[in-house]
Amino acid sequence: MKYIIINGPNLNLLGQREPGIYGNTNMESVVEELRQRFAPQGVEIACYQSNHEGDLIDCLHRAWREGYDGAVLNAGAYTHTSIALHDAIRAIAPLPVVEVHISNVHQREDFRHTSLISAACCGVICGFGTLSYRLAIEALAGRTTTL
Ligand code: DQA
Repeated sequence: MKYIIINGPNLNLLGQREPGIYGNTNMESVVEELRQRFAPQGVEIACYQSNHEGDLIDCLHRAWREGYDGAVLNAGAYTHTSIALHDAIRAIAPLPVVEVHISNVHQREDFRHTSLISAACCGVICGFGTLSYRLAIEALAGRTTTL
């Protein structure tokens, strides 16, 4: 199984950015930990980050074309604004995409309470810090093996 973690705007600054909300761990460490954890199960994990909406869409299309088994998408603030990402996720169906957030967006500002991508995703995990990524991979691994 191969999965891709796709991170949107400002997540390249994870570990430095608002640590009280997003923690002190950077994305490289998160992905390294996940690779080690899941490798014994034959799971490969790729990672991509962009601050640009169109690049995230291109990455979803590539994941589909290249035969990934699923994607974990933290679209950052584009979660709350992007119909184009919603359409991209639908366009690559049935590739399962899990929406992930590090923070519990529902405890935060009102503008974070709406996700334009949830309805296109197979599930949503939010509020568990960087553990949210691991939970998403576990969900994908369970889902894709039982399909
Ligand atoms: C986030 C939550 C979003 O509202 C925010 O814009 C982010 C990160 C999260 O992981 O908690 O950039 O997706």
